[in-house]
Amino acid sequence: MKNNIKLIFLFLLFPSIAAADAAENWQLGFQDPATPIMEGIINLHHDLMFFICVISVFVSWMLFRTLWHFGQGQNPTPSTLTHGTLIEIIWTITPAFILLTIAIPSFSLLYAMDEIVSPAITVKTLGHQWYWSYEYSDYSNENGESVVYDSYMVPEEDLEIGQLRLLEVDNRMVIPTNTHVRVIVTAADVLHSWAIPSLGVKCDAIPGRLNQTSLFVKREGLYYGQCSEICGINHGFMPIVIEVVPLADYVSWLYNKLNE
Ligand code: CUA
Repeated sequence: MKNNIKLIFLFLLFPSIAAADAAENWQLGFQDPATPIMEGIINLHHDLMFFICVISVFVSWMLFRTLWHFGQGQNPTPSTLTHGTLIEIIWTITPAFILLTIAIPSFSLLYAMDEIVSPAITVKTLGHQWYWSYEYSDYSNENGESVVYDSYMVPEEDLEIGQLRLLEVDNRMVIPTNTHVRVIVTAADVLHSWAIPSLGVKCDAIPGRLNQTSLFVKREGLYYGQCSEICGINHGFMPIVIEVVPLADYVSWLYNKLNE
């Protein structure tokens, strides 16, 4: 409820804001993060931007200064100087130190992304030409069936008002908030890639191979992603939608799915 009031204020302040975590027209920056990993990625990006800005300003300043002072107009007789040991040491050591400084947060993020924290739920996602399917094999009903279903894009002519073109699916993947989820990603035919920007996930789906990634989603919502590996003619028409709900809602969704 508190979140709804916050959202209403946001809509009043920024009429163009979308409630869904999806790409928007002319987007330049990141989507809002919903996992600690995506927060980490955005922070690393900002850290790197500092170095990139300082280096670009310094290099451009040096370049234009050189062109100005050593052009034929200013400096008709060129110098015969070919090297200087001190300056060469400086311009080798300094970038090396900058790289070391960048490496520390970069590696810690890289290993954090790789970490699978004893998962409470495992979901298997399979890429097909051209749809995704999801398997929740942690659970089964009296007949021994687990939850397995396909997730197709909603075609343009079937969209309802407010639904996102090329992003909506008929059956979403459902997971609970604040839970360590392991996602096993693979493909049935060709390479696909399971990617959701707000969750900081992009995992290759490879036939004959199981890839593993983890999710810990901090807030409820609808998270939109797309297949991110060219996989054929309908590559652009196999989106991913994840519905993140409170644990109790997840359990009742699961109950209904098992007893369908
Ligand atoms: Cu599946 Cu691109």
